[in-house]
Amino acid sequence: MTQAPVHSRPAPATAERSVGKPIDRVDGRVKTTGAARYSAEYPYPDIAHAALVHATVSRGRIAGIDAAAASAVPGVLAVITHLNAPAMKPPPPVSMMNLSTLASGTTVNYLNTDEVHWDGQPVAVVVAETLEAARQGASLVRVTYETLPATFDFAAEEKNAKPQKSDLVQSGGATKGDAEAALAAAPVAVDLRFTTPPHNHNAIEPHATTAAWDGDRVTVHDGAQNMYWVRDNLAMKFGIPAANVRVISPYVGGAFGGKTMVWAGTILTVLAARVTGRPVRLMLTREGVYRTVGGRTPSTQRVALGAEADGRLTALVHTSVTRLGRVGGGPEQVTSQSRHLYDAENILVQQNLVKLDLLPNTVMRAPGESIGTFALESAIDELASELGMDPIALRMRNEPERNPIDGKRFAHRMLREAYARGAERFGWSERTPEPRSMRDGRWLVGMGVASAYHPSWQFAANVTVRLSPDGTVVVRCGFHEMGMGGATAQAQIAADALGVPFEAVRMEYGDTALPTGPGAGGSGQTASIAASLLSACEKLKRSVLALARRSGDSPLRGQRMTGVEARDGGLYRTGGAGLGESYAKILTRAGRDSMEARVGSDTRVGAIAGQVRFMSKLMLDRRRWVKAASGAQFCEVRVDPDTGEVRVSRWVGVFDVGTVINAKTTASQLRGGIVMGIGMALSEETLVDPRNGRIMNPSLAEYHVPVHADIPAIDVSWLDEPDPTMPLGLIGVGEVSITGAAAAIANAVHHATGRRVRDLPITLDRLL
Ligand code: MOS
Repeated sequence: MTQAPVHSRPAPATAERSVGKPIDRVDGRVKTTGAARYSAEYPYPDIAHAALVHATVSRGRIAGIDAAAASAVPGVLAVITHLNAPAMKPPPPVSMMNLSTLASGTTVNYLNTDEVHWDGQPVAVVVAETLEAARQGASLVRVTYETLPATFDFAAEEKNAKPQKSDLVQSGGATKGDAEAALAAAPVAVDLRFTTPPHNHNAIEPHATTAAWDGDRVTVHDGAQNMYWVRDNLAMKFGIPAANVRVISPYVGGAFGGKTMVWAGTILTVLAARVTGRPVRLMLTREGVYRTVGGRTPSTQRVALGAEADGRLTALVHTSVTRLGRVGGGPEQVTSQSRHLYDAENILVQQNLVKLDLLPNTVMRAPGESIGTFALESAIDELASELGMDPIALRMRNEPERNPIDGKRFAHRMLREAYARGAERFGWSERTPEPRSMRDGRWLVGMGVASAYHPSWQFAANVTVRLSPDGTVVVRCGFHEMGMGGATAQAQIAADALGVPFEAVRMEYGDTALPTGPGAGGSGQTASIAASLLSACEKLKRSVLALARRSGDSPLRGQRMTGVEARDGGLYRTGGAGLGESYAKILTRAGRDSMEARVGSDTRVGAIAGQVRFMSKLMLDRRRWVKAASGAQFCEVRVDPDTGEVRVSRWVGVFDVGTVINAKTTASQLRGGIVMGIGMALSEETLVDPRNGRIMNPSLAEYHVPVHADIPAIDVSWLDEPDPTMPLGLIGVGEVSITGAAAAIANAVHHATGRRVRDLPITLDRLL
């Protein structure tokens, strides 16, 4: 039996096109009524509860652990430390032949080592009959350390950064011409330094895991963006076949990249369940998320631009320093958009990395481009001021026909159209260019723009589609629904491909027992599933037609697929004659209780072959095209001249995201990214204590995300032009709208006040 969520409603009689409609999320009702079961809500009868003990030094060795007081708490079942934990395998080295090797959030073999690598690393797990006993026990574990010298001050260590060598996801370095020479020779130039702080993940649902062993098989409920990575990682760590691990993750309460990797909490829940022989639940506290789940890197960035007096860019330099942990983390593609956005004659991008004794960084919504566009798009605005040009005109002056860095073709590029429509909707022509020239009562009013840009990705996905004689369709794929509407979008796609009503389609997802789905990352999940789903639907229709062709009674007898269309719950000859019949009739006549089509194989050999096929297609694609979502962000701010308070008062975003599958969920995704961008611009900042490397503000009380009162009505729209290289022409919408958002605000703040703030967040002290 699958525990994947099941959503269906009675089917109305006729089908109409679903794609493009603002259909409510299929998982909306169960989520808003509390019926959806999240990872910490699986009721095993004999469940035990776990709590973590965190290291209080940044680097060192555990000298001693006194667990006596913790063990004496009534209800405590076990205090697991490196002194008594069973052995687990260390994370494997990263291999591009097996992408699940990327899954480890850190390289630390938790509770199998006495080494401490960051302040907050779990050093013990307390398991108890109740959550309260577990947490009380955890508070009583006494750990002593031999400390070692540690480096955790990014500002101080920045000078020790080394050039990034690998060019994975276009995040290393690249050059065209001689940008430094062109910069020196340019009649007009800016050469600027920007900084952005670390950010932490704050999904509504803190990370939680429930794990239950049955012999050498384990079932794991874990809010995940890539259940298969969780499965493979746990199998490797505990030395069992991947088939013995089932990860169930139907509902995820937000993730944004924070649930992509496998973090300590997941592994230690499975360990605690093995040690105690009981199902175990571990819900991280909000502070626990800050201590054990990576966040966004801080950055310092240099953007230097040189131009002719007419605004033509001759030089574009974008370099960055970001940090990794000494025990993991990856480069974020901070300079990636600078290869694509402007047709500069000379370009230099280079990323530099420094490793610190801190919890490794991880992906967070548009890792890299979110903060990279802040620097690039602020610098473009500054150059426009230097040139005395309108910032949109400067952008359009340098809008490329081909990818600037290497001359590749764009699969899709509609930034001109996005700006034209945005300017119209926003009323850009009413802006008076002079800073401090616009007021509303005592408020200084500013208007700013910036470009959004995020690459478009696709991954392999296995899908099955099953048709029943009652006309219902079941789509099965182990994908991830973190609240973005992915399941709804796929049901719409299946409905149209098979010519059935949206309500006739049921989606099963969020379970590794299903055909292997893609991870939800890189804004790539929807396109990835769509490609396989469309082929599965084609296969299914061919099989159904073949069945009908064999029957002397069928009006489809002798018909080929080219002359047949799927509509009204069946197959009909194209051209209006209406000859054809319903799926129900075809299947019933043939005595079939269902028909199923499958794309992709989940056998070991099949999976490897599929992955190789997919990767080669991806590589070929990448050689031919540059694919991305893009957009134009327009923002209006009001700044209090006495207090420096910044209010975002209006927002217009126009995006090129190809075909829009669901107008409602797309709008929500785009708005959500802008809201997160407003947080990045004005308030979000993780504070690391420079004395000891400890995060000082691990709570929503002290780490400030925007609240409703901070957010104006956000006007988002899209061009809805299909990208010819993508399935159904769709481009992922998960990340693009956070990019450019912080720059649009910083540019508007400059317009309002005349002050350039190049260090995020733009708190009021920076405006006084
Ligand atoms: Mo995203 S940072 O690919 O969840």
